[in-house]
Formats: sequence, C-alpha cells, structure tokens
Amino acid sequence: DFSNNFRIVEVGARDGLQNEKNFVPTETKLELINRLAESGLKTIEVTSFVAPKWVPQMADHKEIVKKIRRLDGVSYPVLVPNLKGLESAIATGKVDEIALFVAASDAFNKKNINCTTDESVQRAAEVAKAALKEGIRVRGYISTVIGCPYQGDTDPREVLKLSEQLLQMGCYEISLGDTIGVGTPGSVAKLLDALKGGVPFEKLAVHFHDTFGQALANTVVSIEKGIRVADSSIAGLGGCPYAKGATGNLATEDLAYMLNGMGLNTGVDLGKLVETGQWICEKMGRQNSSRAASAILNK
Ligand code: HMG
Ligand code: MG
Repeated sequence: DFSNNFRIVEVGARDGLQNEKNFVPTETKLELINRLAESGLKTIEVTSFVAPKWVPQMADHKEIVKKIRRLDGVSYPVLVPNLKGLESAIATGKVDEIALFVAASDAFNKKNINCTTDESVQRAAEVAKAALKEGIRVRGYISTVIGCPYQGDTDPREVLKLSEQLLQMGCYEISLGDTIGVGTPGSVAKLLDALKGGVPFEKLAVHFHDTFGQALANTVVSIEKGIRVADSSIAGLGGCPYAKGATGNLATEDLAYMLNGMGLNTGVDLGKLVETGQWICEKMGRQNSSRAASAILNK
C-alpha cells in the first residue's frame, strides 16, 4: 500500500516507561497520555497488564485505563501477556484494544515471559481468542525480529512463521520489533523481503529501538517496501527490562519531522509533540533523546 497516509503508534507511556526505575506518578502518566492524544496521535499504547513483580512501573494499569480522557477516534491499547492480564484488563470495562507479544527467540521469551516460543504462541492464541470474543481488537508484536541479546541473529523465516500464526489468531496488525535496535537498512530490507508474499504489508508495522542510531534509516527502508505504520515513543523514552543496553524507541518527534518532509500525512502537530516531550523529560529529570525536539527547542 503506497498511500500517503501514515499512522504513528505512540508507545512512550508503555515501552517508554516500563524500564524506568523511579516510579512515575500515575497523575503524570495520565497527563502524558492526554497530551499525546491532543497532539493528534490516533493510537496510543497506554500501559501493560503484566505482573507488577516483573514490571513495577506498570502496576497502576487499572487506574490508567479508567482515568485517561478518551478522545473520539483515538485507540488506547494495553499490552497483555496472558489470560490473567486480559481478565484484569476486561474487568476495568474500558479496554477495547490489546497488544499481544511473542519473540522470535526462545532465549528471549524465557527471560521476558518465562516460557518457550511455542508456549508463548499458545498463550497468545488463548488470549486472542478470549479478547476477540469480547469484541476487543488485537494487535500482535513480534520481538527480536533482527537479533536477540542472548541468541544472536534472527532467521527471517522464524519471523514469517510467527507473523502467519499471529494473523491466523486474528491480529489486525503485526508490529515487527527490533527490540535491541541492532537492525540496519541492510538487515531490515532482508527481513521485509523474506516476508513479502507471505504477509500482507498493509498489516505490518515496524517498531525500531534506536540503540545504534539506525531507527530512522530503518524506517525509510520500511516505507520504501510499502509499510505505512511505525511505533515510536515521545522524546525517545524507554528501553526493555529484559534487553540490557537497549535504548528507547525511535523518538516520535524525529519520526513526525521526517514523515512531514517525505510528504506523508500523520495528522500530528509536531509543535505539540515537542512541548509534551520536553515536559515529560523535565518531570522525569532526564535528557530529551529526540534530535528534532532539541533542534526546534534551541532555535
Ligand atoms: P510467571 O512468573 O512465569 O507467571 O510470569 P506465573 O503465572 O507463575 O505468575 C507469577 C505471579 O505473577 C503470580 O503471583 C501471578 O498471579 C502473577 P503470585 O501468586 O506469585 O503472587 N501474574 C500476574 N499479575 C498481574 N498481571 C498478570 C499476571 N500474570 C501473572 N498478567 C508473566 C509470567 C508473563 C506474567 C511475566 O513474565 C511478566 O509479566 N512478564 C512481563 C514482561 C514485560 O512486561 N516485558 C516487557 C514488554 S515486551 C517488550 O517490551 C517488547 C515490545 O516493546 C516489542 C519490541 O520492542 O520488540 C512489545
Ligand atoms: Mg519495544
């Protein structure tokens, strides 16, 4: 699909914060999500219903989904690892979209969700079935699509197999996660070429972490191959608790700036994004990782 419309999936409130040691107050998270929605983003992943023992930062998930100000036309998915997570998400009465996740590496699945890849696919299938029955939309993530911190390079055929399985479960979209940000335009092109023909590209999204500074370049390659959805996090917040050294996602401001320049429509207000990114960085006492934001703020 070579259309001019591009959807940005904002994952800052989830992927961006899950690795943060100091607990970010719930009020701050709520304001972050509300501001992100005001900037025109149409999909905002807001939290995860994972075990608080594993990821304490996301322990306020119920309050988050109950208290965010929901704008029409905006979807607010939550990440769910298992049936228990789905049940608590459903119990809030507010969740209409979830995101499942499996990794293309056994070693990573073991560290991240304490099971093998096959078991994780089974778990995901159970969760998808139960969610769809409740009328909840399901998005699927595949992690470590390029490489794994414990297992090395990923075979694209493994990603193809998982993509087909996630689509069969009823996922409306699959986000390809370069969890540790090791991909380059070379390896990303190889992966996408391996998926061509097996998976409809209008059902694919890309999810790049910027560890090696390749996220924008990888996004350009994905766009050239026909992908029109990318995940990013405001101010480049984040990292993954089970991928040591991995930095945050591609910064939403950098992505929006580039897409504007390429004539792709996102519907987001870059000025508002920059203000929000700077605001959350000040609240958290951290550096803003968005280059575009720094350039705009220092003009
Ligand atoms: P486990 O320890 O194997 O599970 O964890 P368990 O079933 O043995 O349960 C252990 C305890 O957790 C029990 O409590 C359960 O009740 C509780 P206890 O009896 O000991 O008091 N529990 C839960 N509590 C709340 N919500 C739940 C839940 N499930 C069990 N849903 C589990 C398995 C999957 C729960 C755990 O490993 C986990 O939560 N992992 C989360 C890891 C995570 O959040 N990782 C980051 C997200 S993935 C990512 O960032 C990649 C992505 O961005 C894409 C990319 O970049 O590639 C998406
Ligand atoms: Mg991620």
